[in-house]
Amino acid sequence: MSRPVLQADKLTKTVTSGERKLAILNQLSLSVAAGESVAILGKSGAGKSTLLGLLAGLDTPSDGELILFGQPLSRLDEDGRAALRAGRVGFVFQNFQLLPTLSALENVLLPLELSPRAGEDHTAQAWLAKVGLGERVDHLPKQLSGGEQQRVAIARAFVTDPKLVFADEPTGNLDPDTGAQIIDLLFTLNREAGTTLILVTHDHALARRCDRCLQLAQGQLLPLDPNTVGGGQ
Ligand SMILES: Nc1ncnc2c1ncn2[C@@H]1O[C@H](COP(=O)(O)OP(=O)(O)OP(=O)(O)O)[C@@H](O)[C@H]1O
Ligand SMILES: [Mg+2]
Repeated sequence: MSRPVLQADKLTKTVTSGERKLAILNQLSLSVAAGESVAILGKSGAGKSTLLGLLAGLDTPSDGELILFGQPLSRLDEDGRAALRAGRVGFVFQNFQLLPTLSALENVLLPLELSPRAGEDHTAQAWLAKVGLGERVDHLPKQLSGGEQQRVAIARAFVTDPKLVFADEPTGNLDPDTGAQIIDLLFTLNREAGTTLILVTHDHALARRCDRCLQLAQGQLLPLDPNTVGGGQ
């Protein structure tokens, strides 16, 4: 097995809500090898989005350690974590988080501007074409449907050719045909570019195509047999 790209060791996340302390994640450990595809399933509110944010280094745990690309994140400040992620980590947010005043093309260009390289416009245009939005480059997010915004978010996550992609319900707003196309695209990249995928999904077809399925419940991850996910739906 190749060297892990990500190792989470006893991650705990506790938040305070009013007077109450809520433990979202409880000493959760996970190791993901380069090139692996992992699906994370679980009920609404189980903490999947919280976990994804922590694994990507976008959020900090209350306790425990995350090692990303061999670097313990606890030793890095926010700028150091951003530098570690730049160009290497792509993230598709559950609510897309597109910038409302920027066009589809400008949104996809954003990560490239943070790690400049040649041919930026061309690369961003090519990604929008790959997700089926080649004709919509000048549209603002509000001029796009939910599924179209989701595809812009996917293009933005992949535009830097990252080694590791996190996607929070990447097919959640897509019709079955478009969803199937996006799933094919994700796994082609996984296979051809060796991109490691960590996906949160309720989509059993997507989960079954992953190397590994995990269920988040009571702040812990438990293995699920991908072949039995969704009972063959
Ligand atoms: N900053 C916060 N303060 C208080 N509670 C929070 C905070 N962040 C998350 N939570 C709570 O933690 C729980 C887990 O939230 P999270 O968004 O991670 O769930 P999820 O599994 O992604 O759910 P869904 O499937 O609906 O997207 C929820 O009950 C949520 O209300
Ligand atoms: Mg969520």
